[in-house]
Amino acid sequence: MATNQHEIYEKARKRTVQKKGFYIHIVLFILGASIIYSLTLINGFDIDHNAVNFYIAITVWFLLLLLHFVKVFITSKFFDQDWERKATEKLIQKHNKKVLLLEKKLQKSGVLPAPTVTKMKGLFTAFKKKREIILIAALGSNNELGKDNDLIWHLPADLKRFKKLTSGHHIIMGRKTFESIGKPLPNRTTIIITRDKNYKHEGCLIANSLEGAILLSKKDESPFIIGGAQIYNQALKIATKLEITYVHHTFEADVFFPKIDVTIWNEIKREFYKADEKHNYDFSFVSYTKKTT
Ligand SMILES: NC(=O)c1ccc[n+]([C@@H]2O[C@H](COP(=O)([O-])OP(=O)(O)OC[C@H]3O[C@@H](n4cnc5c(N)ncnc54)[C@H](OP(=O)(O)O)[C@@H]3O)[C@@H](O)[C@H]2O)c1
Repeated sequence: MATNQHEIYEKARKRTVQKKGFYIHIVLFILGASIIYSLTLINGFDIDHNAVNFYIAITVWFLLLLLHFVKVFITSKFFDQDWERKATEKLIQKHNKKVLLLEKKLQKSGVLPAPTVTKMKGLFTAFKKKREIILIAALGSNNELGKDNDLIWHLPADLKRFKKLTSGHHIIMGRKTFESIGKPLPNRTTIIITRDKNYKHEGCLIANSLEGAILLSKKDESPFIIGGAQIYNQALKIATKLEITYVHHTFEADVFFPKIDVTIWNEIKREFYKADEKHNYDFSFVSYTKKTT
């Protein structure tokens, strides 16, 4: 969190320096233009004879000032590092799709002889989007998750985000979390993990281990692990992405989320929201991806 605050501060500081530079440039331009004009008069030059040079100099300088404006208020503002990252990701995705299409075409038409296809497959699969295992959780300031098998806050925006992210996907949860929810959630495939071999619930898949649950969700490119504490503890090792809601408040709790090791997890996105009439606490949505070694 401290790293992120530092990044925000650094960004704000850079923007201030950029804007200050531009305002100084305007003042210099006005002063410079006035001085050039005055010198022309003081030296007794005939302004009509020197007018062309004078106007060229001022026009060139004005264009430079305009470029400076574009750099500070358009390029740096809208095409910052965040934009660069997103654009690169989009490009890679587009490229991956093309490669996969090509791979399929070549395989279908049999243009590539079998051994070559096998050889190239390794290359193509390297481009393929990796399957994600996403762990989604909401934590208090001390990593609190819940108490008495229930949640300890009500944040409609968090529920809405949870629904948006998980809809259409497999959601994997411990038996206790399932029982605290009470029913399978619509538009999602519910997988319950329990050691009880006879456990059943209508509309749900049952797994007797985390690995079993992951296997049951194998057709989903991004299944979600939704808790609770026991399952998070086991799943943090295999997750590739974390979608965390930080509730900026401390709570009494009996289950806690494990520590997120920042040497393993890269924070890639953070959105902060202030408390309002519907939300009793400030909160942030933070996404992490696992660092590749
Ligand atoms: N804040 C959040 O985002 C969030 C999200 C989810 C849950 N929660 C909270 O977390 C709490 C529940 O968490 P919890 O840790 O008590 O329970 P849990 O992780 O939801 O479920 C634990 C149960 O899962 C089964 N299980 C765990 N590991 C297993 C394994 N390796 N193989 C087979 N089965 C396994 C066992 O079921 P059996 O006993 O049936 O064998 C175990 O009792 C609640 O307070 C809930 O509200 C908070």
